[in-house]
Amino acid sequence: MKGPIFELRDVWKTYCMKGVETNALRGINLVIKDGEYTAILGPSGSGKSTLMHIMGCLDTPTKGKVFIEGREISQMSDDELARVRRDKIGFVFQAYNLIQGLTAIENISLPMRFSGHGRGESQRKAKDLLAKVGLVERMHHKPNEMSGGEQQRVAIARSLINDPDVILADEPTGNLDTKTGKEIMDLLESLHKKTGKTIMVVTHDTRLAARANREIRMIDGHVVEK
Ligand SMILES: Nc1ncnc2c1ncn2[C@@H]1O[C@H](COP(=O)(O)OP(=O)(O)OP(=O)(O)O)[C@@H](O)[C@H]1O
Ligand SMILES: [Mg+2]
Repeated sequence: MKGPIFELRDVWKTYCMKGVETNALRGINLVIKDGEYTAILGPSGSGKSTLMHIMGCLDTPTKGKVFIEGREISQMSDDELARVRRDKIGFVFQAYNLIQGLTAIENISLPMRFSGHGRGESQRKAKDLLAKVGLVERMHHKPNEMSGGEQQRVAIARSLINDPDVILADEPTGNLDTKTGKEIMDLLESLHKKTGKTIMVVTHDTRLAARANREIRMIDGHVVEK
């Protein structure tokens, strides 16, 4: 039987800059079960992004173990890790991170192209996802021709293109006004309800966080469960 989607055992992350060490994570123990919808709160600098990057295999811990479905990530080959990042986990960032020269549909289909699928097939799926996030009419717009909320919806559609089990969203509403931010959280919530995906979202908004199944607070590199 495979393990929980994520398990962290005594995970530390120490950054060293100009001889100064910062312990961004100080012994995190955390289990995230398949299908959970978790909100992560905590002050600036408490380690939220660091935690998301490590869980998403974008960075490695200084000490401790991270398991994804029971497999320890330090035991995986580079190819396996690349596959986990590409197919198992969808990322949504505060700054959207779309490619400026590409249209909405091209941005969304790109990760599927990278997985080896053809252009037609990838664009068909991208179009379905554009419909899901309510943006078919913006299909041929480039990022600078869309509002912040629209760009973030494109980024969410892109995170879904390879049908990941997990969505990791690091302050997806951080650059948006309150109303648009709420729409983005509604979208993540409906994804969770409709598809049962595991969702972890960093937010500063306690009201939005309260709608998740589980709230985790980070303080000084520690996780405090609410
Ligand atoms: N690449 C890095 N090099 C050196 N120090 C870093 C690096 N990334 C983060 N840090 C430090 O690690 C700590 C945790 O940073 P992190 O970005 O995880 O915080 P955060 O909770 O996401 O904050 P915010 O709410 O402002 O996004 C901070 O003290 C930060 O300065
Ligand atoms: Mg952060």
